[in-house]
Amino acid sequence: MKFGTIGTSWITSSFIDASRKSNDFILKAVYSRSETRAKEFAEKQQAEHIYTNLEEMAKSDEIDCVYIASPNSFHFNHALLFLKHKKHVICEKPIFSNTEEFREAYRVADENEVFLFEAIRNIHSPNFKVLKNAIERIGPITSTILHRNRYSSKFDEFLAGGRPNVFSADFSGGALTDMGIYPLYLSVGLFGKPKKVSYSANLLESGIDGSGTLILSYDGFTSTIMCSKISTSYIPCEIQGQNGTVVFNDAGALVEMKLVDNSTNKVLPIETYATEDNMAFEIHNIKRIILTKNEQEYKELKELSLLTLSITEEARRQNGIIYGCER
Ligand SMILES: NC(=O)c1ccc[n+]([C@@H]2O[C@H](COP(=O)([O-])OP(=O)(O)OC[C@H]3O[C@@H](n4cnc5c(N)ncnc54)[C@H](OP(=O)(O)O)[C@@H]3O)[C@@H](O)[C@H]2O)c1
Repeated sequence: MKFGTIGTSWITSSFIDASRKSNDFILKAVYSRSETRAKEFAEKQQAEHIYTNLEEMAKSDEIDCVYIASPNSFHFNHALLFLKHKKHVICEKPIFSNTEEFREAYRVADENEVFLFEAIRNIHSPNFKVLKNAIERIGPITSTILHRNRYSSKFDEFLAGGRPNVFSADFSGGALTDMGIYPLYLSVGLFGKPKKVSYSANLLESGIDGSGTLILSYDGFTSTIMCSKISTSYIPCEIQGQNGTVVFNDAGALVEMKLVDNSTNKVLPIETYATEDNMAFEIHNIKRIILTKNEQEYKELKELSLLTLSITEEARRQNGIIYGCER
């Protein structure tokens, strides 16, 4: 499958590297707003074609698929353009700013008989299945502490008076949709739709959340999700059950997993897959779903994406976080 890219930051480079590793997608074209950057990026990544006009890239026969890693607020318009030209779309997380955009984009994807995916590594990782199996062994779930708290170097820019996209409401930024989305995906992927959502956000003066705690209420337990772009956590994630606790590091990579048995206090290590393959697993899954037209898996991923987005939308509503595209 031949693909083009939007965005020239490190995450696009990581996606291209992973596509080479997985041997599933072939890079053909890159887009940048700047011709110089497009040329440099194409040379570095060995892409044959460069574009500075998105419409032209969307129309071209050189690609079957596009990977979108533009700032969040652009995802919807970028995705729509390519879907209308019958290109499959892999869009970085958070897929869209709100559920209205989500429903419209999936409608257009269906109308044009192409696939649309949110790029989120953790649920495509085989480590997610490892985690799913591990929690089967700890009895009824009683509590979770899941988090992704990492100080962003872009916060330095923010503190110095700048407005990096991820700290801006105009670009649909914020900690929950940028960082919290990983543990949130885990929670809804493992436990489904919560009965209640409650988000307590630490708002920055740009109107978005620099950090926050999301509590999802399920029958018999609560799932606590912490996220931050203005501080770093050094504690592991935990899923606690009546019979034991599953402990792991990194809600994105799901590594260094172990199970602590409550009755014996024994620590049982759990084998996980290498972190650096995470994106390659994701790409491989996406290609398989497209080529086999696996409607069932596609529907499941779509529903998970929608559920996650509807929770972040509710969380934003509770805290008065309004994006530029919604004003
Ligand atoms: N999956 C992951 O692990 C992961 C990690 C990081 C980011 N992401 C996601 O990837 C996406 C991009 O994140 P990022 O941190 O790379 O964002 P970014 O640096 O703010 O922007 C990404 C690209 O978009 C273009 N761009 C920047 N500002 C723009 C503007 N004002 N108007 C139009 N285009 C603009 C730039 O490309 P040109 O200047 O060359 O056009 C830039 O390379 C986000 O959705 C983010 O959530 C995912």
